[in-house]
Amino acid sequence: MHPAGDRRFSVRHLLDPPALQGTFAEDVRRGLSAEPKFLQPKYFYDALGSHLFEAICELPEYYLTGAERQILATQGDAIAAALPSPVRAVELGSGSAVKTRHLLAAILRRQGSLTFVPLDISPGVLERSARELVEAYPGLRVEALAADFDGGLRALAEDGAGRRAGEHLAILFLGSTIGNLDPPAARRLLHRVRSLLDPGDVFLLGTDLKKDERILLPAYDDALGVTAAFNKNLLLRINRELGGDFDLDRFAHRVRYDRRRGRIEMHLESLVDQTVRLRQLDFSVRFAAGETIHTESSYKYDSEQIADLARRTGFRPAGAWYDRDRRFAVSLLETAGVDKLPA
Ligand code: AVJ
Repeated sequence: MHPAGDRRFSVRHLLDPPALQGTFAEDVRRGLSAEPKFLQPKYFYDALGSHLFEAICELPEYYLTGAERQILATQGDAIAAALPSPVRAVELGSGSAVKTRHLLAAILRRQGSLTFVPLDISPGVLERSARELVEAYPGLRVEALAADFDGGLRALAEDGAGRRAGEHLAILFLGSTIGNLDPPAARRLLHRVRSLLDPGDVFLLGTDLKKDERILLPAYDDALGVTAAFNKNLLLRINRELGGDFDLDRFAHRVRYDRRRGRIEMHLESLVDQTVRLRQLDFSVRFAAGETIHTESSYKYDSEQIADLARRTGFRPAGAWYDRDRRFAVSLLETAGVDKLPA
């Protein structure tokens, strides 16, 4: 399709499969030995999990994607106008980047050409979206980075995100991905992002907003059972990659809202007393009936919490856009105070 020299996209792979496999094994052993048991949500996103997540985004109950898409589609030009110019856009956890397209299109209406640096843990999804984006937008270059946040942010710090002289940086963190981080981890991430930025650069943050449980709970426990499948896929992945013998019928998808912490929790609950063996780890794990593995937290924010998080990490809240029903917010954070934070 594209002669090699004409390619407007590249994908840099920082995920080293054997090393990754080792980390996965260690993390699973640690999480299933802990009390209470837990697994990290980043492990949802193998090839199947990434597709299940894309299906979740189409569900009527999962309002987050539609709300954010509405913001970017209807207010994209206003958001683009608030960004520095010329800008290079970096997106952390870009996934399929379908919603981001609206913003990229708005930036391209303003500046004609743009380099987009999507970073994602799922190489397949990343390659596909990079290809589709340059196909759709002639002015766009894509320099994709297949990495987790830790490795990706380290690489971005080393090469300044590939920024050219005179270019400003806009780092995008959309889709309420920040919701997976507990408050200290969210602050650490914003600190790290802040340390990549110069005065005049910006951070654009998408957060799901606090709302009635009658809306929140079904978003994570849909009638079709797609979210249940997404959650249980973690067990399937452990079976496949670590020689586990989880019986998926002996676990149930559970969702609760912790109002005090303002977070949705997803768990996998063991329906019986059982022992599960992970052959490749030479490790067995006991479950009591009713015991759960905590697989994900999704924190919900209000405007005060967003502003507070910003101020504590070297940013100044500089604007926010909402969908019509105020379910979701896209907030612009400008650099404030110190130019570089102490390490
Ligand atoms: C991708 C982290 C934003 O927490 O809402 C969707 C993941 N989990 N349904 C979220 C998810 C269950 C999603 N994030």
